[in-house]
Amino acid sequence: MKSSLIIPDIYQGGMGVGISTPNLSRTVSLNGQQGTVSGVAVERVVPRILQMGDPGGHIRRALSHFPFPKISEPILNMFFVEGGIKKGTPFKAVPVFTVNPTHLLISLTLCANFAFVWLAKENNPNPVSINYLEKVAMPHIYAITGAILADVDYITMGAGIPLQIPKVINDIVEGREVSYRLPVIGKNITSHTMAFHPEKFFGTAMPPVKKPRFIPIISSNLLAEILIHKLPEGSIYAFAVEENIAGGHNAPPRKILFNEKGEPEPIYGEKDKIDYPALAELGIPFWIGGGYASPEKLKWARSVGAAGIQAGSIFALSEESGMNPDLRRKIRKLGYEGTLNVRTDMRISPTGFPFKVADIEGTIADPEIYEARTRICNQGELVSLYERPDGKIGYRCPAEPLDKFRIKGGDPKDTIGRGCLCNGLFTTAGVGNEEEPPVVTLGDNVGFLRFLMKNSEDSYTVAQAIRYLLG
Ligand SMILES: Cc1cc2nc3c(=O)[nH]c(=O)nc-3n(C[C@H](O)[C@H](O)[C@H](O)COP(=O)(O)O)c2cc1C
Repeated sequence: MKSSLIIPDIYQGGMGVGISTPNLSRTVSLNGQQGTVSGVAVERVVPRILQMGDPGGHIRRALSHFPFPKISEPILNMFFVEGGIKKGTPFKAVPVFTVNPTHLLISLTLCANFAFVWLAKENNPNPVSINYLEKVAMPHIYAITGAILADVDYITMGAGIPLQIPKVINDIVEGREVSYRLPVIGKNITSHTMAFHPEKFFGTAMPPVKKPRFIPIISSNLLAEILIHKLPEGSIYAFAVEENIAGGHNAPPRKILFNEKGEPEPIYGEKDKIDYPALAELGIPFWIGGGYASPEKLKWARSVGAAGIQAGSIFALSEESGMNPDLRRKIRKLGYEGTLNVRTDMRISPTGFPFKVADIEGTIADPEIYEARTRICNQGELVSLYERPDGKIGYRCPAEPLDKFRIKGGDPKDTIGRGCLCNGLFTTAGVGNEEEPPVVTLGDNVGFLRFLMKNSEDSYTVAQAIRYLLG
């Protein structure tokens, strides 16, 4: 089938963990807009889906096309449970990432990224992209290899400065060893480079693969200029711009004020605004995201030189989203009635970036639920690397138990208000352990609900959302 080459009006944002599923992105893509799967933590999501019995057989079908069965078959043997595990049974532990990941974890990362992209592209002639967070860096070299093996068309990446990605893509496509340099907090060690040679790992050369195009996610003109200036010409296909209204992680503001409770609040001012005509002058297409899910905003985005809009929340609340259906229903209702509160939490994300949190009953946004949760770090997606006194690399997360964080040399002040986004986001995506409360992230603006729902219990599909956005 021939791929459509039209630059779409709507870029569906990559929403991790597990919101931008293959089903969501495939549906968006089949509706003629740009579908994106989230590649964040999929190496932990896929084994859980397999343990839930792999409803529909999707992961097994995708992995039957993985070009190296000796890598994918052990994964299926280890994690697939016919009919699913019994309610209340905890999921099997998956090793956490270190700079020397186990063979099993590398295999899982390759297979999970392959499976998600493969499914999004199944009987779908249109392009599909995958999204990663720069800051969640240890999986990159394996994750991107898996996505490329499944013929991914675009890679989008935010939450950091993704200067290393174009070379990663080139090295994988050209069959070379691929490496990624990670920052380490320390006096003597300030970085560590992870390396992966696909051919050595698979024991045979990679099949011929296509080079995906790279779309960095930016929040300022300066970042666009840095990327253009520092990367070889042609490295950047387009930009996705995320304004501070967008769901998920946001760029840090230039100014922070403390409210009467002493909590930090971001003040986004004139200096945080993006100069779109100046961005357009750089000659690279871009989509604008963050509260742009309306036909008027799409028109406005075009008037300032954008190719269109990037939209997330409108798809996160649609029928095809990976978000737990009960949570979705609750949020749609609150949004429709105008009582949904979404705030920019400066503390909750272990990454240190501001993170949008929806105030929903029964989630970690509820102070009682936050306090009642036993701190534990068993997924490790958001750890920082640090230099241990013995000169080796250690891993710590400010949302882990306080004493552990302190023993690892972490500043106790850094733990205040932090939450476990790994486990919370798994629960929101319906793949969490039972005792873990959900955490919901969403954009500030859900005004689209009034146009898509007839009443507070109503719902809508991706096709309806796209029809609305295109006016
Ligand atoms: C539930 C949710 C999760 C998100 N997760 C990510 C993510 O993992 N990576 C990313 O680059 N952006 C993420 N975003 C941002 C979206 O990709 C998109 O830019 C944003 O949602 C656009 O703003 P809107 O929600 O107002 O439409 C997320 C947004 C939502 C709503």
